[in-house]
Amino acid sequence: MATLFPTLAAHFIFFFIFFVFITSALADDGSFVRTTDAKLLGLNKKEKLSHFKLYWHDIVGGRNPTAVPVVPPSKNSSTAFGLISVIDDPLTMGPELSSKMVGRAQGFYSSASQQEVGLLMAMNFAFMEGKYNGSTITILGRNTVFSKVREMPVIGGSGLFRFARGYVQAKTHRFDPATGDAVVEYNCYVMHY
Ligand SMILES: *[C@@H]1O[C@H](CO)[C@@H](O)[C@H](O)[C@H]1NC(C)=O
Ligand SMILES: *[C@@H]1O[C@H](CO)[C@@H](O)[C@H](O)[C@H]1NC(C)=O
Repeated sequence: MATLFPTLAAHFIFFFIFFVFITSALADDGSFVRTTDAKLLGLNKKEKLSHFKLYWHDIVGGRNPTAVPVVPPSKNSSTAFGLISVIDDPLTMGPELSSKMVGRAQGFYSSASQQEVGLLMAMNFAFMEGKYNGSTITILGRNTVFSKVREMPVIGGSGLFRFARGYVQAKTHRFDPATGDAVVEYNCYVMHY
């Protein structure tokens, strides 16, 4: 007993120190990050795939443009390389601007190709209709505007579109070379909860 006791005490002290060290290490790392239950956030549902078709109206000309150049293109570029335009484009259900507006495409596009007209699109589709009012999806991708169909990733979302991912396919419905105004059909395929 007399010889065993110090060993036990040493073990106890060792484990005590070890335990304190481990718990303090966990507390340090775990104080701002922790795993949580999907149920608490209402995210324990099956992911679903939504498809929506919208028309995107880019109004460049006239007195009330919805696309405003904020950085001019490089002087003699045939592809408007360097241009940055900020947009607040209406999204409607039909191809006419007078059809029901369901949201707005807000963000910017930038001419990012020197060989062809290739835009970098960075925009949020801010929905304003029905249960989707206030929810957004974020699109970031490459848009070679003279291609028949352009595909761009949906990289995220908010509200009903939390954890969204997917893609959009954009097809020019109408383009007026005189004004630069365009109506583009967007088919969006989005996985979300
Ligand atoms: C662009 O501008 C530069 C400098 O003014 C000129 O040397 C060049 O030839 C121009 N390029 C084109 C394609 O016009
Ligand atoms: C969408 O939400 C905003 C802000 O909550 C509200 O002012 C607006 O009337 C709503 N629009 C529709 C169509 O429900």
